[in-house]
Amino acid sequence: MDKNRLNRLLSSEEIALIVKNLADQISEDYCGRELVLVCILKGAFMFLSDLVRHLRIPVQVDFVRLASYGSGMKTSGKIEITKDIEIPIEKKDVLIIEDIIDSGRTLQFLKDRLALQNPRSIKVCALLDKKSRREVEMEADYLGTDVEDIFIVGYGIDFNENYRHLPEIYYVTPIHHPKE
Ligand code: IMP
Ligand code: MG
Repeated sequence: MDKNRLNRLLSSEEIALIVKNLADQISEDYCGRELVLVCILKGAFMFLSDLVRHLRIPVQVDFVRLASYGSGMKTSGKIEITKDIEIPIEKKDVLIIEDIIDSGRTLQFLKDRLALQNPRSIKVCALLDKKSRREVEMEADYLGTDVEDIFIVGYGIDFNENYRHLPEIYYVTPIHHPKE
């Protein structure tokens, strides 16, 4: 059977610096506004929890859970919401917190859906971006860092529900065992 090798991409220190810089920009830009952070479960939970601790402005926090039916490695076009936000966002500023932008379809779906509630603004803060994989137009307003077309795990991000607990970010490569 093939197993996965985890190759470290970002250390805890590197992640902390990225998150601190994002929190500083957000604190500056949204000073004096009513900001609601909408975290996409499950992948962004660790990113959100570190980000809020570095913010210097008051925010409200809410969560959505989206289901997309695809294989373990790819989002299918069909996305559904399985847990919606609970805080009213009309006339408020909304910042979506996402782990990785890949095809862009998840964020396109969520932005369109949240827009129905007439918020004052909707922006996106993503930790990682695989720009080469984009299928629809989608740009993060706040971005941690770009990554190549590699499969990422750790720091909340999973491969078939594994590896979310790891404090650092890795990319997965298969270990091939020659057949006997
Ligand atoms: P998109 O809709 O294709 O942009 O996919 C975004 C979602 O796919 C993210 O929220 C992640 O949950 C998942 N995803 C994309 N790339 C990776 C990866 O490298 N590792 C784990 N999950 C990923
Ligand atoms: Mg996700």
